[in-house]
Amino acid sequence: MIETLIEFAQRWALHNGDSQKAWEGFHSALSHLFVCYVEHFQFEENLLQSCRYPNLTDHRHDHTRILSSVAQCTHAMIVGMKVDLLLTAQGLAASFQQHELDADFAYMGFLNQPVAT
Ligand SMILES: [Fe+2]
Repeated sequence: MIETLIEFAQRWALHNGDSQKAWEGFHSALSHLFVCYVEHFQFEENLLQSCRYPNLTDHRHDHTRILSSVAQCTHAMIVGMKVDLLLTAQGLAASFQQHELDADFAYMGFLNQPVAT
């Protein structure tokens, strides 16, 4: 999904920010990304809650931060603010990758621990 966002952003940049089609495609992909993130994060949080993951609160806060940044970008586009789509897409991709490295890999290590009997 983030790859689709980057593709539209690159197309937009290729036209020096003057492609309505790329702009609309980006906006549509961004809206879809938000829905996918909500579903994915909810699944992950439910899983972590059922496993009594000790860092769930921090993990949930990072999910909220990511969703907030996607929502802010969407809002900026809707109200007609000048948005650099390429920088936005790269920033969102980097933010999500950092979340995977910092937070998701941490809980994977927790889930892979042997269960005390
Ligand atoms: Fe996560």
